[in-house]
Amino acid sequence: MARIVAGVGPSHVPAIGAALDLGKTEEPYWKRVFSGFEKSQAWMRECKPDVAIVVYNDHASAFSVEMIPTFALGCAAEFPPADEGWGPRPVPVAKGHPALASHIAQSCILDEFDLTICNKMEIDHGMTVPMNLLFGKIEKDGQWPCPVIPLAVNVVMYPPPTGHRCFMLGRAIKKAVESYPEDLRVVIFGTGGLSHQISGPRAGLINSEWDKHFLDNLSGNPQKLVKIPHIDYMREAGAEGIEMVMWLIMRGALDDKVDEVYRFYTVPASNTAVGHIILENKARKTAAKPKAKPKAAIKHKRAAARAKVDRVRA
Ligand SMILES: [Fe+2]
Repeated sequence: MARIVAGVGPSHVPAIGAALDLGKTEEPYWKRVFSGFEKSQAWMRECKPDVAIVVYNDHASAFSVEMIPTFALGCAAEFPPADEGWGPRPVPVAKGHPALASHIAQSCILDEFDLTICNKMEIDHGMTVPMNLLFGKIEKDGQWPCPVIPLAVNVVMYPPPTGHRCFMLGRAIKKAVESYPEDLRVVIFGTGGLSHQISGPRAGLINSEWDKHFLDNLSGNPQKLVKIPHIDYMREAGAEGIEMVMWLIMRGALDDKVDEVYRFYTVPASNTAVGHIILENKARKTAAKPKAKPKAAIKHKRAAARAKVDRVRA
């Protein structure tokens, strides 16, 4: 059986990707950001997922304003990086996992979540930046460490889905993954945010107190978050803070009780608060395989059983 072992929540600030691509990671401004993900990359190397589901939002790269799916699942065999106006980022083409993705599509749609199925799709910084933050910098001709399944969420054009709908979709994804017969370790990303507003009179808005409470509740009490209306995100976390609903899909896909194994928060990166969290499923982590019995003990047990049968026959 496949299982989701952990969820990660990184921001996806485009300037982080540019800093990485232009070799600026050692500059003091950016070192502060990138050093916060060193532990995360070590954790990911140890976690060794077989597949990563990446919940992110497209920024008019795969979809224009002419066509805006609320939830779009990538079922393709590969996902090239999109050209966002200055050429595609120098990152590898991401390999997909069409079998698991199609299974998730079937399970979720029959569970009444009407996903859009994408058999061809380019991915932008909303997905490639979080992958870099967790998997590290990988050259264009290299390979990401595992296949990915993109799940694009509309948080760009009103109306985005509610936090509750996102959380419940996470629940449906959990059920889908756990009904997939192959033994796969899956990590799910919830990306975007945290508080930020990139235009208008409140451009530059950052609300660290809101962000901290969000991360606290995401970890320990997500039900407190699922009922937050859009207007609260807009008022407290800025117009683009609505991206945070995507983290609730990740959280919904995890068990009720989780271990928060890492958190990082810094302000600013570009004009955004950078937040990051790693949550592991508790029950599964401790579910160790039963130890094999020593051969001598098995032999002894068999001999005792034979003796018992002989006694009965006698
Ligand atoms: Fe964004």
